[in-house]
Amino acid sequence: MRTKMMLGLLVMVTFAGIASAQDAAAGKALFASTCAVCHGADASANTTMGKTLKIPNFHTPEVQKQSDAELTAIITKGKGKVMPAFEGKLTREQMSQLVAYIREVGKQQ
Ligand code: HEC
Repeated sequence: MRTKMMLGLLVMVTFAGIASAQDAAAGKALFASTCAVCHGADASANTTMGKTLKIPNFHTPEVQKQSDAELTAIITKGKGKVMPAFEGKLTREQMSQLVAYIREVGKQQ
């Protein structure tokens, strides 16, 4: 009985892991086509535009310390004068894929 429960839990955790890896992959493709012009191909904003606009590097703790909800809110509503609001342009699912990708980026120092 116990073993069965543990096994069930293990399967669930494994599937959740696969789902988030898929999300991050979809988010990466979306990021490349929609966000990389400003944020740079590797999300470090290490580009002329990134430096001029003072775009935060997604590899840093300053970005990573924000919650998924906070990051989603910025993507939805935009930030400052330059970061566009993607409300109505991207679906909720696409936004959560982008957040999954931002978390992947955070793991690569
Ligand atoms: C036109 C250029 C531009 C595009 C396109 C753009 N961004 Fe941004 N983004 C910015 C700028 C500039 C900032 C910094 C805003 C500020 O702090 O005032 C920013 C900030 C952010 C932040 C907040 C970082 C932080 O810690 O403050 C997130 C998250 C973000 N962008 C995600 C995205 C995603 C995801 C996309 C694509 C769907 C995207 N951005 C597309 C320019 C852009």
